[in-house]
Amino acid sequence: MKYFVVNWKANKNLTEVNYWINVFLKKYRPKNDIKVIICPPYPFLSFLSKKIKGYPNIFLGTQDISQFDNGPFTGEVTASMIADLAKYTIVGHSERRQYFLEDESIIEKKIKQAIKYKIEPILCIRNNQDKIFDEIKIVAYEPVFAIGSGDNEPPEQVFQFKNRLNLPNKVIFLYGGSVNEFNAKDYLKEGIDGLLIGTASLNPIQLLKIIG
Ligand code: PGA
Repeated sequence: MKYFVVNWKANKNLTEVNYWINVFLKKYRPKNDIKVIICPPYPFLSFLSKKIKGYPNIFLGTQDISQFDNGPFTGEVTASMIADLAKYTIVGHSERRQYFLEDESIIEKKIKQAIKYKIEPILCIRNNQDKIFDEIKIVAYEPVFAIGSGDNEPPEQVFQFKNRLNLPNKVIFLYGGSVNEFNAKDYLKEGIDGLLIGTASLNPIQLLKIIG
Protein backbone atom coordinates (compact mmCIF):
# COMPACT_ATOMS: atom_id res chain seq x y z
CA MET A 1 0.00 0.00 0.00
CA LYS A 2 1.32 3.47 -0.92
CA TYR A 3 0.00 6.62 0.73
CA PHE A 4 -0.30 10.01 -0.91
CA VAL A 5 -1.12 12.71 1.62
CA VAL A 6 -2.18 15.95 -0.01
CA ASN A 7 -1.48 19.06 2.05
CA TRP A 8 -2.89 22.21 0.52
CA LYS A 9 -1.87 24.27 3.57
CA ALA A 10 -3.60 27.68 3.72
CA ASN A 11 -4.45 27.84 0.03
CA LYS A 12 -7.52 27.84 -2.24
CA ASN A 13 -11.03 29.24 -2.10
CA LEU A 14 -14.24 27.35 -2.82
CA THR A 15 -14.15 28.05 -6.57
CA GLU A 16 -10.59 26.74 -6.77
CA VAL A 17 -11.40 23.69 -4.66
CA ASN A 18 -14.33 22.89 -6.92
CA TYR A 19 -12.12 23.17 -10.01
CA TRP A 20 -9.38 21.05 -8.45
CA ILE A 21 -11.61 18.19 -7.37
CA ASN A 22 -13.50 18.09 -10.68
CA VAL A 23 -10.28 17.85 -12.66
CA PHE A 24 -8.84 15.31 -10.25
CA LEU A 25 -11.84 13.00 -10.17
CA LYS A 26 -12.24 13.06 -13.96
CA LYS A 27 -8.74 11.64 -14.47
CA TYR A 28 -8.32 9.63 -11.26
CA ARG A 29 -7.95 5.88 -11.79
CA PRO A 30 -8.23 4.07 -8.45
CA LYS A 31 -5.79 1.26 -7.72
CA ASN A 32 -6.07 -1.23 -4.89
CA ASP A 33 -2.59 -0.51 -3.61
CA ILE A 34 -2.86 3.25 -3.15
CA LYS A 35 -4.59 5.58 -0.73
CA VAL A 36 -5.04 9.27 -1.47
CA ILE A 37 -5.65 11.40 1.61
CA ILE A 38 -6.71 14.95 0.75
CA CYS A 39 -6.15 17.44 3.58
CA PRO A 40 -7.92 20.69 2.68
CA PRO A 41 -8.48 23.71 4.92
CA TYR A 42 -11.43 22.99 7.26
CA PRO A 43 -14.09 25.02 5.39
CA PHE A 44 -13.91 22.68 2.39
CA LEU A 45 -14.18 19.34 4.22
CA SER A 46 -17.92 19.02 3.97
CA PHE A 47 -18.01 20.06 0.31
CA LEU A 48 -15.25 17.58 -0.58
CA SER A 49 -16.78 14.73 1.39
CA LYS A 50 -19.83 14.92 -0.88
CA LYS A 51 -17.67 15.14 -4.01
CA ILE A 52 -15.55 12.05 -3.25
CA LYS A 53 -18.44 9.83 -2.24
CA GLY A 54 -18.29 6.61 -4.26
CA TYR A 55 -14.68 7.09 -5.37
CA PRO A 56 -12.54 4.27 -3.97
CA ASN A 57 -9.35 4.87 -2.01
CA ILE A 58 -9.79 8.62 -1.59
CA PHE A 59 -10.07 9.86 1.98
CA LEU A 60 -10.15 13.20 3.72
CA GLY A 61 -7.81 14.43 6.40
CA THR A 62 -7.27 17.70 8.20
CA GLN A 63 -4.05 19.68 8.46
CA ASP A 64 -4.38 20.06 12.20
CA ILE A 65 -6.74 19.25 15.06
CA SER A 66 -7.54 20.92 18.35
CA GLN A 67 -5.82 19.79 21.51
CA PHE A 68 -9.17 20.39 23.26
CA ASP A 69 -12.46 18.53 23.28
CA ASN A 70 -15.66 20.54 22.59
CA GLY A 71 -16.07 23.48 24.96
CA PRO A 72 -15.30 27.16 25.50
CA PHE A 73 -12.32 27.37 23.13
CA THR A 74 -13.21 30.11 20.65
CA GLY A 75 -11.96 29.43 17.16
CA GLU A 76 -10.98 25.80 17.69
CA VAL A 77 -11.97 22.92 15.43
CA THR A 78 -12.23 19.79 17.52
CA ALA A 79 -11.81 16.11 16.74
CA SER A 80 -15.48 15.56 17.50
CA MET A 81 -16.42 18.03 14.72
CA ILE A 82 -14.05 16.47 12.24
CA ALA A 83 -14.80 12.81 12.97
CA ASP A 84 -17.75 12.43 10.57
CA LEU A 85 -15.86 14.05 7.72
CA ALA A 86 -12.21 13.02 7.94
CA LYS A 87 -10.46 9.75 8.73
CA TYR A 88 -6.99 11.28 9.14
CA THR A 89 -5.32 14.35 10.56
CA ILE A 90 -1.84 15.73 10.17
CA VAL A 91 -0.32 16.54 13.56
CA GLY A 92 2.90 18.39 14.39
CA HIS A 93 3.66 19.82 10.96
CA SER A 94 6.81 21.93 11.20
CA GLU A 95 4.81 25.03 10.24
CA ARG A 96 2.55 24.44 13.26
CA ARG A 97 5.58 23.93 15.47
CA GLN A 98 7.20 27.11 14.14
CA TYR A 99 4.34 29.60 13.73
CA PHE A 100 1.93 28.32 16.38
CA LEU A 101 4.55 27.25 18.90
CA GLU A 102 3.26 23.71 19.19
CA ASP A 103 5.49 21.72 21.49
CA GLU A 104 5.52 18.00 22.26
CA SER A 105 2.98 18.36 25.06
CA ILE A 106 0.45 20.09 22.76
CA ILE A 107 1.16 17.57 20.01
CA GLU A 108 0.55 14.71 22.43
CA LYS A 109 -2.84 16.18 23.40
CA LYS A 110 -3.78 16.51 19.74
CA ILE A 111 -2.84 12.88 19.08
CA LYS A 112 -4.97 11.79 22.04
CA GLN A 113 -7.95 13.80 20.80
CA ALA A 114 -7.63 12.34 17.31
CA ILE A 115 -7.48 8.78 18.60
CA LYS A 116 -10.38 9.34 20.99
CA TYR A 117 -12.55 10.17 17.97
CA LYS A 118 -11.09 7.42 15.75
CA ILE A 119 -9.18 9.80 13.50
CA GLU A 120 -5.78 8.45 12.46
CA PRO A 121 -3.00 10.94 13.26
CA ILE A 122 -0.20 11.38 10.74
CA LEU A 123 2.68 12.67 12.85
CA CYS A 124 5.15 14.96 11.09
CA ILE A 125 8.69 14.92 12.38
CA ARG A 126 11.50 17.24 11.29
CA ASN A 127 14.44 15.16 12.51
CA ASN A 128 15.27 12.36 14.94
CA GLN A 129 14.87 14.70 17.93
CA ASP A 130 11.11 15.00 17.46
CA LYS A 131 9.29 12.48 19.60
CA ILE A 132 7.42 9.63 17.96
CA PHE A 133 4.60 8.77 20.34
CA ASP A 134 3.75 5.12 20.97
CA GLU A 135 0.21 5.47 19.57
CA ILE A 136 1.44 6.65 16.19
CA LYS A 137 0.91 4.37 13.18
CA ILE A 138 1.85 6.87 10.44
CA VAL A 139 4.98 9.04 10.57
CA ALA A 140 5.87 11.63 7.95
CA TYR A 141 9.50 12.70 7.88
CA GLU A 142 9.75 16.26 6.60
CA PRO A 143 13.17 17.89 6.94
CA VAL A 144 12.63 21.64 7.26
CA PHE A 145 15.16 22.60 4.57
CA ALA A 146 13.24 20.54 2.02
CA ILE A 147 9.78 21.98 2.65
CA GLY A 148 8.64 24.26 -0.16
CA SER A 149 12.24 24.87 -1.24
CA GLY A 150 12.62 22.65 -4.30
CA ASP A 151 15.54 21.02 -2.47
CA ASN A 152 14.20 17.54 -1.70
CA GLU A 153 16.25 15.22 0.49
CA PRO A 154 17.62 12.42 -1.72
CA PRO A 155 15.70 9.13 -1.37
CA GLU A 156 18.75 7.12 -0.17
CA GLN A 157 19.25 9.57 2.69
CA VAL A 158 15.58 9.42 3.61
CA PHE A 159 15.78 5.65 3.64
CA GLN A 160 18.86 5.75 5.89
CA PHE A 161 17.03 8.13 8.21
CA LYS A 162 14.11 5.71 8.35
CA ASN A 163 16.43 2.82 9.25
CA ARG A 164 18.02 4.80 12.06
CA LEU A 165 14.59 5.44 13.58
CA ASN A 166 14.12 1.71 14.17
CA LEU A 167 10.36 1.99 13.95
CA PRO A 168 8.18 -1.03 14.70
CA ASN A 169 7.43 -2.86 11.43
CA LYS A 170 3.81 -1.88 11.34
CA VAL A 171 4.52 1.86 11.37
CA ILE A 172 3.95 3.49 7.99
CA PHE A 173 6.77 5.85 7.01
CA LEU A 174 6.16 8.75 4.63
CA TYR A 175 8.46 11.41 3.21
CA GLY A 176 7.55 15.04 2.52
CA GLY A 177 9.54 18.00 1.25
CA SER A 178 9.57 19.24 -2.35
CA VAL A 179 8.11 16.02 -3.73
CA ASN A 180 7.18 16.44 -7.38
CA GLU A 181 6.22 14.41 -10.43
CA PHE A 182 9.90 13.84 -11.28
CA ASN A 183 11.26 12.63 -7.94
CA ALA A 184 8.21 10.86 -6.44
CA LYS A 185 8.87 7.41 -7.95
CA ASP A 186 12.40 7.28 -6.53
CA TYR A 187 11.09 7.46 -2.96
CA LEU A 188 8.49 4.77 -3.50
CA LYS A 189 11.11 2.46 -5.04
CA GLU A 190 13.38 3.05 -2.08
CA GLY A 191 11.05 1.36 0.43
CA ILE A 192 9.21 4.45 1.59
CA ASP A 193 5.50 3.86 2.15
CA GLY A 194 4.26 7.10 0.70
CA LEU A 195 4.56 10.83 0.28
CA LEU A 196 3.26 14.01 1.83
CA ILE A 197 2.88 16.54 -0.93
CA GLY A 198 2.46 20.28 -0.49
CA THR A 199 3.22 22.65 -3.38
CA ALA A 200 2.89 20.07 -6.16
CA SER A 201 -0.50 18.96 -4.87
CA LEU A 202 -2.02 22.38 -5.52
CA ASN A 203 -2.23 21.35 -9.18
CA PRO A 204 -4.44 18.28 -9.68
CA ILE A 205 -2.61 17.20 -12.84
CA GLN A 206 0.74 17.27 -11.06
CA LEU A 207 -0.71 15.23 -8.23
CA LEU A 208 -2.09 12.65 -10.65
CA LYS A 209 1.37 12.32 -12.20
CA ILE A 210 2.87 11.77 -8.74
CA ILE A 211 0.32 9.09 -7.95
CA GLY A 212 1.21 7.52 -11.31
P1 PGA B 1 6.16 20.88 -0.10
O1 PGA B 1 5.44 20.79 1.31
O2 PGA B 1 5.74 19.69 -0.91
O3 PGA B 1 5.69 22.17 -0.69
O4 PGA B 1 7.63 20.88 0.17
C1 PGA B 1 5.37 19.59 1.99
C2 PGA B 1 4.77 19.82 3.36
O5 PGA B 1 5.22 20.70 4.09
O6 PGA B 1 3.81 19.15 3.74
